[in-house]
Amino acid sequence: MAVISVRNLKKTYVVGDIQVHALRGVASDVEQGEFLAVTGPSGSGKSTFMHILGCLDRPTSGQYILDGQDVSKMSKDDLAKVRNHRIGFVFQGFNLLSRTSAIENVELPLLYSRDHIKGAERHKRAMASLEIVGLLDRSHHHPNQLSGGQQQRVAIARALINNPSILLADEPTGNLDTRTSIEVMDVFQRLNIERGITILLITHEHDITQYGTRTVAFRDGHIVSDMKNVNRRMAKDELAALPSREAAEAADAAAAASVSAKLAAG
Ligand SMILES: Nc1ncnc2c1ncn2[C@@H]1O[C@H](COP(=O)(O)OP(=O)(O)O)[C@@H](O)[C@H]1O
Ligand SMILES: [Mg+2]
Repeated sequence: MAVISVRNLKKTYVVGDIQVHALRGVASDVEQGEFLAVTGPSGSGKSTFMHILGCLDRPTSGQYILDGQDVSKMSKDDLAKVRNHRIGFVFQGFNLLSRTSAIENVELPLLYSRDHIKGAERHKRAMASLEIVGLLDRSHHHPNQLSGGQQQRVAIARALINNPSILLADEPTGNLDTRTSIEVMDVFQRLNIERGITILLITHEHDITQYGTRTVAFRDGHIVSDMKNVNRRMAKDELAALPSREAAEAADAAAAASVSAKLAAG
């Protein structure tokens, strides 16, 4: 059974007297354990699609069935429960609180949860989440003491805090360099393969789509192609083949020193 099933999904934004047709009738099924890359040009409806799947927004019309339940028939409270317990979100800009440590950022969703989870339990769960993304040793660092890749991993740990079965990520590597992007894709692939978490990840970068199991392309509010990825890229193997981060940095420093020496020599 599909975890996510949408039919004739439409979303029209009304801005003044203008109507923007962001989704014009989208149909798709996503199976448990799939890793869907969602791609397409800017303005094609990708984020709108994801906001609706994540119950952050409602469609103008059409059907959305999540785990066999019709989302359009759910009350506001039930929607909030789905959003908090079944779905995790990761965004391009990390969205971390800057004056707050990594572990506190990860705990945050529990602080606002109606389940009233005690401090010790919050701490335990946040540490477990940080361990999954390999950042236990950075738990007390603030975001400005972390690299972009580490900040995104904190954001992934925060998204995992309620043990969601679906992760939605909107351009999560959009602000990251190539190597860091591969490291972040490695985290997503491990969550997908080792924990069976269903992932939908928006990206406009072709090579990033290749880490998924399937690629869906949007254009003008429609899905225009939907294909299984035949040669899935594996971030773990690519990282193993790259020189270590330290070696790469040492090589950069040596190259810079050589350029300075040449400049100085005239
Ligand atoms: N809150 C909003 N109000 C009005 N128009 C919006 C809103 N969000 C998105 N749009 C419009 O809907 C279309 C699809 O946007 P979006 O889903 O963000 O596309 P993408 O993520 O592919 O860049 C665009 O034309 C965009 O300007
Ligand atoms: Mg977008």
